[in-house]
Amino acid sequence: MSTLKTCWLLLFTALLMLSSCSRAQETVTQETELLKNKKVLIVYLSRTKNTKALAVLIHQKVGGDLVSLELVTPYPDHYQTTVDQVATENATGFLPPLKTKIDSIEKYDVVFVGFPTWGMQLPPPMKSFLKQYDLSGKTIVPFNTNAGYGIGSSFETVQQLCPNSKVLQGFSTKGGKERDGILFVMEGDKEKQVRAELQDWLKKTALIN
Ligand SMILES: Cc1cc2nc3c(=O)[nH]c(=O)nc-3n(C[C@H](O)[C@H](O)[C@H](O)COP(=O)(O)O)c2cc1C
Repeated sequence: MSTLKTCWLLLFTALLMLSSCSRAQETVTQETELLKNKKVLIVYLSRTKNTKALAVLIHQKVGGDLVSLELVTPYPDHYQTTVDQVATENATGFLPPLKTKIDSIEKYDVVFVGFPTWGMQLPPPMKSFLKQYDLSGKTIVPFNTNAGYGIGSSFETVQQLCPNSKVLQGFSTKGGKERDGILFVMEGDKEKQVRAELQDWLKKTALIN
């Protein structure tokens, strides 16, 4: 083989290796009919980052825009003060104003909504979000973390606040237990387990192949 041919062969092999390397680092988006040509938004509320971790894992699977729900006036750092404030807000129906603004919500077809359970309910900021934005005609996909007491009424409330949307079966897993000083748990074996459970759930809801 001539030297020129060998050079071309080497260059071609190097380029091939480079391109497969960069592809491996890309976000894996496995589109199904439900997501084909659809615009995805993933909105989440997270205090101790467990729900955020779910949101990031879902984002790796389905792509789209990932948005953290932030408040005009954040909740206190102190756990019990926050629990008491949330109890009052839930009792009075107060909807905390959101600092986060979503540009042109109408452009999205599928909206994932992620939240922890607070006081066995949907947290007030997520109620604010669902009341503030018109999600009619969109597919809504709820996901949740909680301290082990479950989702409470949170998924039902999502359904009630989105009467003209198609609300899919939600995903929930045990997260932290701030009351007992257990904050972030989505690492190591737990993260691996959640990753596999999310994969199964997304397949069941036909959001990925
Ligand atoms: C104000 C407040 C109220 C909570 N209420 C509940 C509850 O009713 N049931 C439950 O299982 N966990 C409850 N938790 C625990 C959280 O749902 C759990 O730690 C969750 O994983 C936190 O998610 P994050 O890390 O995304 O903030 C509460 C936590 C806070 C801060």
